[in-house]
Amino acid sequence: MTTCSLSFPPQINLARLPTPMQPLRRLSEKLGVELYIKRDDLTGAALSGNKIRKLEFVLADALAQKADTVITCGGAQSNHCRATAIAAAMLGLNCRLLLRTPDPSDPPPTEGNILLARMAGAEIVWITPEEFKQRDELMEREAGQLSEAGRKAYSIPEGASTALGALGYVRATEELVNDITNTMGGAHQHCTIILAAGSGGTSAGLILGTKIFDVNARVVSINTCDDRDHFLQAIGGICEDAIAGFHLDIDFDRDRDIEIIDGYVGRGSGLSQPTELAMICKVAQTEGIFLDPVYTGKAFFGMVEELKRDPKCFGERIIFIHTGGIFGLLPKAVELEPYL
Ligand SMILES: Cc1ncc(COP(=O)(O)O)c(C=O)c1O
Repeated sequence: MTTCSLSFPPQINLARLPTPMQPLRRLSEKLGVELYIKRDDLTGAALSGNKIRKLEFVLADALAQKADTVITCGGAQSNHCRATAIAAAMLGLNCRLLLRTPDPSDPPPTEGNILLARMAGAEIVWITPEEFKQRDELMEREAGQLSEAGRKAYSIPEGASTALGALGYVRATEELVNDITNTMGGAHQHCTIILAAGSGGTSAGLILGTKIFDVNARVVSINTCDDRDHFLQAIGGICEDAIAGFHLDIDFDRDRDIEIIDGYVGRGSGLSQPTELAMICKVAQTEGIFLDPVYTGKAFFGMVEELKRDPKCFGERIIFIHTGGIFGLLPKAVELEPYL
């Protein structure tokens, strides 16, 4: 076993851990690789997915700062916002969400993640894509207004993708060491960890974690929005902040350590194309696993396309991180219908 140069800050227990790692036997056979899936979609039921691991650290900090309200932001069907709303309700905190929509005067229907967030009592402020570009300033403005009203707000950047949030996936890497030992017959078996990148915190945590725990793995992120350069900056910034902030004694180089596969954003963030939806249905039919349309569906589709091009491009063993998002499927029922 490896040593860890990090003493973790306080964390609250929100996720059901450890999550299972399962072989995908039928897909492995079809794709000609050993394919495993790390079920972080099973960190809980309504409170589920990758964000919970990050929120364990971030909300511990909010409580330590005596906040009574958390503010965060995301797309209309944000999994992170839904998870934050539910976790806030569990902790007795108020929650205000800044959600992006083309026309705030005509917001999307209350379904999927929006429904769950509202049921958990979150207050929703609809903002335009243009306003979303200034999201951090807008959250600070909201926090200022709450403070004038005698409340104490804590702002969580998009996706809880900060150095502190990324620690959730440093911790997850500890779990992966056990998973690799138990399922692949030894901690030092080489594998490629593949995941969807949205705001970059999960990727940053895994990159740092594989170094801290000396895991013999490549971490490959498939961007589901923006492009490679954006993610080099985003993930690189989070890793460097964590290294400085937590005094991590590791050797990190953006260009060497961040691997992004670009080219699978498709029609755009949150928008699906037929090939992605067909793949999501195929995986559900073949393995009984539900990918989401915004993140994991695009990343899994990208991984399969890359394997079609070169079956050995990721080596012999792959761990696909299922980061959750099942509620994003519900508003897509009509689009999914042709593939059922
Ligand atoms: C289901 C799901 N998978 C993956 C991601 C991407 O994770 P990250 O934002 O840490 O890159 C997100 C959120 O952005 C998500 O909701």
